[in-house]
Amino acid sequence: MNAIEKRRVSEIISLHNEIIGHFRKGIQKAIRIGELLVKQKASLRYGEFMKWIEDNLPFTDRTARRYIMLYENRERVRSDNLSDLKLSHCYRLLAEPSEYIGNIGISEDNGAFIDDLDEAPSQIVHARALRQRKMKKKSISGLDVNTIYCGDARDILQYMPDDSIDLIVSSPPYDFTRSYEGHTFDFEIFKEIALQLSRVMKKGGVLAWVVADGIIENSESLSSMKQALHFREECGLNLHDTMIYLKNSPSFPAHRQSNRFSQSFEYIFVFSKGKPRTFNLLCDRRNKWANTTSFGTPSMRDVDGSLTGYYKPPTPVYSPRGNIWKYNTGRGYTSKDEMAFHHPAPFPDLLAYDCIRAFSNCGDIVLDPLAGSGTVGAMAKVLKRYFISIEISERYCHLIRERLKFPHNADELTMRSALEYNSVVWEDVPYTEIIGDIQANGKRCYSK
Ligand SMILES: C[S@@+](CC[C@H](N)C(=O)[O-])C[C@H]1O[C@@H](n2cnc3c(N)ncnc32)[C@H](O)[C@@H]1O
Repeated sequence: MNAIEKRRVSEIISLHNEIIGHFRKGIQKAIRIGELLVKQKASLRYGEFMKWIEDNLPFTDRTARRYIMLYENRERVRSDNLSDLKLSHCYRLLAEPSEYIGNIGISEDNGAFIDDLDEAPSQIVHARALRQRKMKKKSISGLDVNTIYCGDARDILQYMPDDSIDLIVSSPPYDFTRSYEGHTFDFEIFKEIALQLSRVMKKGGVLAWVVADGIIENSESLSSMKQALHFREECGLNLHDTMIYLKNSPSFPAHRQSNRFSQSFEYIFVFSKGKPRTFNLLCDRRNKWANTTSFGTPSMRDVDGSLTGYYKPPTPVYSPRGNIWKYNTGRGYTSKDEMAFHHPAPFPDLLAYDCIRAFSNCGDIVLDPLAGSGTVGAMAKVLKRYFISIEISERYCHLIRERLKFPHNADELTMRSALEYNSVVWEDVPYTEIIGDIQANGKRCYSK
């Protein structure tokens, strides 16, 4: 190394060390603010904290929640290797989102049952409206469907009657991989929600739980397995199927220096309360040997031991698919609706679409208690099911309402799902051929 290079290296190292020092101090201060806020909150009565922030502090309750979250995760944040600038957790916890802050009023009213799904307005009902009207727990009469409930699922689910939901499709925040507007989610919160979900499911109802693991201290967290065991052992649900959602482009792609392969799948745990009442096979697996019969002369042995030939029908073009479902992810693929990307972790539309058509029928009630950008509600609407979406973040509730307006086309979704499942490129298969065949195999219960 020559002298100029040496000077450059030493300047880089000293600047880097300064930056780390500043970050470390900044984060310690943020953690301290979180601690003070937690103490203040504990000294107030339920519901007074937001008002206190508004009256006394120069930032919003969302920022306060972020400080609190940082404080609650202080051990992990401190043990992060700051010299590698692995500060993504802290950044995410503190960053104030600037885009898409809607300005739509929150309705304090509960709506009635809406018969015409095409016309269904999607109202937002705030958790406080349920409380203010002093509704008895488990007492929503006839269930408010096609409704977005804004609040903590632990609160809102308590108002839902036992045995009322046909299908739940949902996905929890995974470990520490993303911050959703500063709301924490841990195993204790999961347990409360899981218990309520198993209570509100109808007998024969199904729960499709999409989950993956974060890496904590160099190990996969196994949160997914802990949650699955809890649903089975503590909530008494059957594990009907362990399915895989395979992504064409992984969330955490490996690079040449990685010590893990790219993370390219998530689990879809399919639970049922007793035997599943509804199961619609998706018959869109394209057979390689379509229209041919197997090699050799088919035969069957008679009672006297002689062999007789019998007719073997040729392999059909499509057969029932397996339990590894493949989807293309990323902009333009996860959803055709650009609004979806205002949320950090939207489902692929097709994943929700396929779960709903497989495990429910038209007119059934589909719940997503952790609705995020509202993919499940939007797909339930296309498929003529009633939906209930619960989401803690007010910002995402507005997003859900906007996403419900997107003009999805069920035929197009059905076809895209078949193509992605079969890893076929659009141009390879004529549109009319594939759609005709799938419709011949499956039930159609949506209108164009
Ligand atoms: C993984 S995301 C769901 C994404 C969703 N499947 C979609 O397609 O957009 C989980 C969501 O749960 C929400 N959440 C976290 N804790 C919650 C709670 N206690 N009650 C309701 N929603 C909660 C988060 O705000 C986040 O949007």
